[in-house]
Amino acid sequence: MSVVLPKFEIDVPLPVPPKPVAEADKLKYRTKIIDALKAHNAVLIAHYYTDPEIQALAEETGGFVGDSLEMAKFGARHDAQTLIIAGVKFMGETAKILSPEKRVIMPTLEATCSLDLGCPAKEFSEFCDQYPDRTVVVYANTSAAVKARADWVITSSIAVDVVEHLDKQGEKLIWAPDRHLGQYIKNKTGADMLLWQGHCIVHDEFKFKALEQTIALHPDAAVLVHPESPDSVIQLADVVGSTSQLIKAARELEQQKLIIATDKGIFYKMQQAAPDKELIIAPTAGEGATCRSCAHCPWMKMNVLENLSSIFERKGVDVSVDPAIAEKALVPLRKMVEFVNS
Ligand code: 13P
Ligand code: SF4
Repeated sequence: MSVVLPKFEIDVPLPVPPKPVAEADKLKYRTKIIDALKAHNAVLIAHYYTDPEIQALAEETGGFVGDSLEMAKFGARHDAQTLIIAGVKFMGETAKILSPEKRVIMPTLEATCSLDLGCPAKEFSEFCDQYPDRTVVVYANTSAAVKARADWVITSSIAVDVVEHLDKQGEKLIWAPDRHLGQYIKNKTGADMLLWQGHCIVHDEFKFKALEQTIALHPDAAVLVHPESPDSVIQLADVVGSTSQLIKAARELEQQKLIIATDKGIFYKMQQAAPDKELIIAPTAGEGATCRSCAHCPWMKMNVLENLSSIFERKGVDVSVDPAIAEKALVPLRKMVEFVNS
């Protein structure tokens, strides 16, 4: 059978950036959030790509900062009745599916992800229907409905290991939605994978030539790259890994200078992990670049102290997932968690 690859490209409208807030107001919002967390038996769970002040607040209040997989596991384990997810929508949905008995709320439900947007459930399901003999593996950065169509859900921290495991069993795969991560996994494992053609608008902007020039300026630096970046950029990397893996590498590498090709929100925790090292953001300008994101996810940026401080006063902050979809999506999500724990 000839292979029909999806040609699903999107030109996503980006959200309006939040307005800057005066320092005095920030203090007021912080106090209000700290009080509200206690009053509502709630815990704040933030992704590495949110702004440093959100991550700091999660840490100070006994919450959590981590990658998408760790966030999901922390939320499921924690005994708070309400989980506040500071991140993007798929993270809130995953938390709700894994902890249906808890209230899961987000500062804004408008915070989404270009990978999620670029993989609509109907088109994806029709694509999968063409290849009934293939195992469907999707990235966590997808809607609950896309997860419900999948056999496996994985994050970048376990992607290579899971695909290696499936490849050893002789399984042929469909992978969605990130084309660069898919190509990276395919190159690493040699697995037979059909790749959906989505992309992350942040990582897609790291460019080979501009990065090569930065490396020439800092020949003593190590280059750390998230695998949602283009293959040519990955080729220049000393370390390729998920957010948590890159932070670990930053701590362990002997180089004092590190060039980082991922969202610059990660600098907050990376600098904590490697306080003496100089962190340099990989360029997103240069040939072929649009600098639409400038290395910071516009949807992660929508989580601000102001909307966090009013979260218990507003309607429309609750994450809800259709129970029939949640039931199906729970199957591959559980496999993901069990794979990590095995
Ligand atoms: P992690 O799974 O490494 O947290 O990455 C999520 C993400 O959105 C990367 O762009
Ligand atoms: Fe999605 Fe990219 Fe933002 Fe991550 S950084 S949430 S993959 S748009």
